[in-house]
Amino acid sequence: EVIDGGGKVLLPGFVDLHTHLREPGREDTETIESGSAAAALGGYTAVFAMANTSPVADSAVVTDHVYRRGQEVGLVDVHPVGAVTVGLKGEKLAEMGMMAAGPGRVRVFSDDGVCVSDPLLMRRALEYSASLGVVIAQHAEEPRLTKGAVAHEGPEAARLGLTGWPRAAEEAIVARDALLARDAGARVHICHASTAGTVELLTWAKEQGIAITAEVTPHHLLLDDSRLQTYDAVNRVNPPLREASDVAALRKALRDGVIDCVATDHAPHADQDKCCEFAAARPGMLGLETALAIVAQVSVEPGDLSWRDVARVMSEKPAQIARLDDHGRPIGVGEPANLTLVDPDLGWTVRADELASRSRNTPFAELSFRAKPVLTVLRGRVTARDGVAAQPGTGVRA
Ligand code: DOR
Ligand code: ZN
Ligand code: ZN
Repeated sequence: EVIDGGGKVLLPGFVDLHTHLREPGREDTETIESGSAAAALGGYTAVFAMANTSPVADSAVVTDHVYRRGQEVGLVDVHPVGAVTVGLKGEKLAEMGMMAAGPGRVRVFSDDGVCVSDPLLMRRALEYSASLGVVIAQHAEEPRLTKGAVAHEGPEAARLGLTGWPRAAEEAIVARDALLARDAGARVHICHASTAGTVELLTWAKEQGIAITAEVTPHHLLLDDSRLQTYDAVNRVNPPLREASDVAALRKALRDGVIDCVATDHAPHADQDKCCEFAAARPGMLGLETALAIVAQVSVEPGDLSWRDVARVMSEKPAQIARLDDHGRPIGVGEPANLTLVDPDLGWTVRADELASRSRNTPFAELSFRAKPVLTVLRGRVTARDGVAAQPGTGVRA
């Protein structure tokens, strides 16, 4: 088939280092199938499925299952993320080696949603990860500073009487784990960087030659805590939406390469877990189907990033951080490729009801954007076109 890409931008398939697919355990909110369709529609050809499922992905039984199910669906390569500890708040390291050696070939481990707060345990985890050549993706939340916290600690939270989440809860862990990674000769990746201080710490750590990388989410690039005024629980997320000055620092850090990549933290939640009081709602927002549009709006359209840079922050860098080239054959000349075709001028409005995700918790509903992925190709096969995902189960396997 010959595809006319006239006026559009051809990019390598996007890679999301941070997706919650909720299978196993909360298939009412997302499945590997529905999440894969959302990913394909968002221009993704690979997603990393976070470990806070039920059961937790802390053994090769779970990670291999997630990988195989992703391959059956065949709309996107689903790479399982392994949990750092047995159980999410565990005190014992998980068998990372077993997960890395299995068919799921786990290359990214995480404490997402909880944070390994014990420094000695984190030090041992980093040493183990270094010996395996894998990376730890750090949720970066000092839980002793976030007890009861539901919103960024600042004037907005104070006005609304919400318990504040200080920037230091994130920055303390970023600083600590930069130093621990340095000493362990390990790689550490900071999930959802959200503060100007984290940007300063990343700048410092990279200058020292520490093997630290970081991601920023589309929602932290677009939204700030003035959103809280609506009191709508759709805006509750961990880490919380910060102040406008943080948003500006994050955009600049993405432009300058201090933040390496964009990752969605796609976090589906059921209506009943989001339609309650702000403080009682579960934290998290959908992200896969809106990420590119937001990056285009906040970074490409103002001139901070070129489309070439978008290929770097949405595809190349996340693939490098996860050592995706180590997952299979590198694609050579004449071989089927992973591609995303973006229409930079389509113009569209997000409708929550039209998303492929099983959940509806998008803070971007009714917002209009210009750019949208219009065609996604996984190993030479179309997985999404003009807003419609391909049938699952007919995919080309890795
Ligand atoms: O907002 C969040 N939601 N942050 C996390 O760290 C976890 C995630 C989830 O699993 O819902
Ligand atoms: Zn997290
Ligand atoms: Zn997450």
